[in-house]
Amino acid sequence: MKLLAIESSCDETAAAVIQDGRILSNVVASQIRLHTQYGGVVPELAAREHLANLVPVVQQSLAEAEIRADDLDWVSATQGPGLPPALMVGYQAAQHMAFALGIPLLGIQHHEAHLYSPWIDPEQNRLESEAFEPNLSLVVSGGHTLLLWVKSPMNHVVVGGTLDDAAGECFDKTAKLLGLPYPGGPLMDRLAAQGNPDAHRFPRPMLKDAGFDFSFSGLKTAVRYYLQKHPQCLQDEHSIRDVCASVQSAIVDVLVAKTLRAAEAHEVKMITVSGGVSCNRGLRQALSQACNQAGLKLRMAAPTYCTDNAAMVGCLATWKIKLGAEPTPLGQGIRAGWMLA
Ligand code: KG4
Ligand code: ZN
Repeated sequence: MKLLAIESSCDETAAAVIQDGRILSNVVASQIRLHTQYGGVVPELAAREHLANLVPVVQQSLAEAEIRADDLDWVSATQGPGLPPALMVGYQAAQHMAFALGIPLLGIQHHEAHLYSPWIDPEQNRLESEAFEPNLSLVVSGGHTLLLWVKSPMNHVVVGGTLDDAAGECFDKTAKLLGLPYPGGPLMDRLAAQGNPDAHRFPRPMLKDAGFDFSFSGLKTAVRYYLQKHPQCLQDEHSIRDVCASVQSAIVDVLVAKTLRAAEAHEVKMITVSGGVSCNRGLRQALSQACNQAGLKLRMAAPTYCTDNAAMVGCLATWKIKLGAEPTPLGQGIRAGWMLA
């Protein structure tokens, strides 16, 4: 089965071709440079960029996979959640391709695509659905921080989420306070590696709370107050690195503690991690260490499949189709507010 996948929920225009679970191509055109000038993603501009980039990205993904559009058996695309004008460009393109080629369409929930991305083997570039084990999953991105109990493929429940800012948002917003360009997460990761994580004891919100929910806005506020009191910090590279390392350490402490506690509460032996923030080296290292100590298996999405991409959309679609998913009616539009239950 040959499937084309499209992703356009935020600021990456992406297309991938998957054949029987093998990723034949995975093309991503990032708009980061455009949005950096504005300090964040501007939905209207994102949509215009998607419109300009989508056809070339799809053409490139078909060319790299060495297949023609009329060889496709299925098309899939992110249907939600995301920025409505951005989602519409990719989803409408998928609807039109399905209509014109006379093939079925499968609309995909973006967080669910992240959720199953750790099952993509980065060495073979293929979906390893046969290796599935029940797990507790941490999905951490710019727009979401979720803990899910994944009992079997496509059978998962949300056990925790963020009450305010997502972890990625916290990275991006504190980076902005430090005068770093958007998106701040990757840069903070780099600067944190050269800073002292114990330089400042920023709050670990809800760390001791018995539930599995998160809250990161208080951490951001603590950084704001600190910088208001110590404005000279912004003039000094060492001080900036120390704040980055201390903020990262606070975020990582909370994410790791809650994830491990949730795994224990749901009696699973494996943890999986995905989403843009799961690229963070501090988080990857802390999770590896904690899982080692607790005797838990750990499966992290490979860095290529952590940030938004279409391969994860196509792999999830492939898995769902294998399990008997029905096509999405072509008369259905985007679902911008589509949340996992
Ligand atoms: O999954 P993603 O590409 O898009 C969403 O669905 O939101 O995640 C983007 C988020 C941004 O907040 C970005 O700053 C963060 O992931 N991010 C990181 C790192 N790489 C990306 N945060 C911390 N450390 C990183 N290395
Ligand atoms: Zn995402």
